[in-house]
Amino acid sequence: EEAKKYLSAASYPIVIKASGLAAGKGVIIAQNSKEAIDSVKEIMQDKIFGNAGDEIVIEEFLEGEELSIFAITDGVDYILLPAAQDHKRIGEGDTGKNTGGMGAYSPLKFVDTELLKEVENNIVKPTLKALREDNRKFNGCLYCGLIKTKDGIKVIEFNCRFGDPETQAVLPLLEGDFFELLYSTAKGTINKNAVKYNGGSAMCVVTVSGGYPEKYEKGFEITGLEQITDPDIQIIHAGTKKENDTILTNGGRVLNIVSFIRENSLTKCKTITYNAIAKVKYKNIYYRNDIGFRAVK
Ligand code: GLY
Repeated sequence: EEAKKYLSAASYPIVIKASGLAAGKGVIIAQNSKEAIDSVKEIMQDKIFGNAGDEIVIEEFLEGEELSIFAITDGVDYILLPAAQDHKRIGEGDTGKNTGGMGAYSPLKFVDTELLKEVENNIVKPTLKALREDNRKFNGCLYCGLIKTKDGIKVIEFNCRFGDPETQAVLPLLEGDFFELLYSTAKGTINKNAVKYNGGSAMCVVTVSGGYPEKYEKGFEITGLEQITDPDIQIIHAGTKKENDTILTNGGRVLNIVSFIRENSLTKCKTITYNAIAKVKYKNIYYRNDIGFRAVK
């Protein structure tokens, strides 16, 4: 009732979120009060996100380019890994339902030194300080889900974990000793020199089961993986399973096809990634053909 009252007089679009964990899907962008109130009913009464919807968050709708930045921190000091951009919607041009992530790439052209300073000074440093002051000193990977609006950088969400599929595009860009970075951080004193950006670029495209993020079938044979011989490509399994010698689909998001090259060219990455994906076959395969569309035409 409280939400309904608020939403009847709010300005639109507006964002309604299930407050609990919903595998990245618990977000609805409502265009008007009817859509918003229907969404609240679906989340809180019909329980479309289960108990994650016991409580909801209603947020201002922010417009701009999204970016994800992982701050590896011992609670005081930190390093930022290269920024990545996720593509959360199922449809090309960022349309349709939210998913767990349809693809990502890194680095981002629009993330320059000035923008990184803004992220550090306005977001990372004050957040770590506030956590310490609240007796919740945070040690680990602080996932900053950000958006570059016309009024500056804003936070969409924080996670205390790496992001999927951004991580698939960020880790190939690190040279050095990633284990040392994490271990020194876990022990309480981050070794900030353990890794550095290697100057490359990477892209991850996720293939899903047709119908995802709604109803989909699984158990279909995946073929063509052995035909991907390009050394710049890594195939990371997600919703798959092996039965005897056959790989079957076993979830909504099925495979991550990741390219990495040692030069800063997303255009090349994109070509390499989609050439590889064309070889993958299974019934009802779906993937977005436009991962990186904001950066590469
Ligand atoms: N890519 C979104 C997430 O990991 O939450």
